[in-house]
Amino acid sequence: MKRGSGSKIISIGVILCLVGSILAGCSGRMREDEIKTIRIGVTVYDQYDTFISQLIEDFKSFAGEKESQTGIAINIEIYNAAGSQSTQNGQVEAMLDDDCNVICVNLVDRTEPTTIIDMAEKRNVPVIFFNRELVEEDLERWEQLYYVGAKAFESGIMEGEIAAEAFKDLPGADKNGDGVFQYVVLEGEAGHQDAIVRTEYSVSTIIENGVEVEKLSYGIANWNRAQAQTKMTQMLGEYGSQIELVLANNDDMALGAIDALKAAELEREKWPVVVGIDGTDVGLEAVKNGDMAGTVYNDKEGQAAAILNLAYELSIGGSLTGLGLEDGKYIRLPYSKIGPDDVDDYMKK
Ligand code: BGC
Repeated sequence: MKRGSGSKIISIGVILCLVGSILAGCSGRMREDEIKTIRIGVTVYDQYDTFISQLIEDFKSFAGEKESQTGIAINIEIYNAAGSQSTQNGQVEAMLDDDCNVICVNLVDRTEPTTIIDMAEKRNVPVIFFNRELVEEDLERWEQLYYVGAKAFESGIMEGEIAAEAFKDLPGADKNGDGVFQYVVLEGEAGHQDAIVRTEYSVSTIIENGVEVEKLSYGIANWNRAQAQTKMTQMLGEYGSQIELVLANNDDMALGAIDALKAAELEREKWPVVVGIDGTDVGLEAVKNGDMAGTVYNDKEGQAAAILNLAYELSIGGSLTGLGLEDGKYIRLPYSKIGPDDVDDYMKK
């Protein structure tokens, strides 16, 4: 008797499931209908990095939009690793203990993802790395690892194009009139994929565009405005108004260079051409008011949306088609050039 009613319950259950999946049209939607909440863990290398903090703000607002579109509550845990890889490893462990469905990691040390990958694989929780790119061999170590970022070399090429155009078009860019663009570079963290590639491609692109260059100096300022001001102050001390171009690997360092120019009370006509990369709010403001000749848009909205959409689909077990994945693992957003003529369009984003 007991056994009989038990099997009836099972068969009714099976019938209900079948009816359910026919009505839902596909099992993916069926699952989505059943899921009420997902939990996404995020850890960033440094919450005070201007670009990263703006990307995270975008991520949160896209998550809010997704919640209202889908009716699924999206709980987000955000941690600041404050520059320590071991702190970040501990944060990932805590997020796994909290049953996050997916973990998004902005690595502190892009050569040290092993602990995180091993922990996540053991718990079968997918990981989306973003902005600080691990090497391909590491990303290949497990099928549930992804990377969202941008096409680094493009940003260098575009920065070089902006600089070459400035040399040709801006009166007074070649301050000493020798036909050569004397430049300094402000570089991001040593070993960061964007720093290496941006410096290399920006300079080679200026040359390819027919402008002769001479490197006066460079300084590593770790993406940081205050450090860039210090380096630029030193370079100004050594080269003064011989500096005709500042190639900064990001907007914050371009702004640090501008802070140094202002502090040195160099007359505006004697300023070098300053070019950045990112199109952060402060960077756009500097293009708008003419302090910077231009910048290159590092599509934080696009990257934030890509991370969120991928995290969402992975969490509900949905489909990854249509998310723009290359080789099933990479999403890379394109860059674009921003000058005084189109800066307003970007300020509205
Ligand atoms: C951005 C920098 C940022 C760095 C952090 C780069 O892509 O251009 O502004 O500091 O990522 O990893």
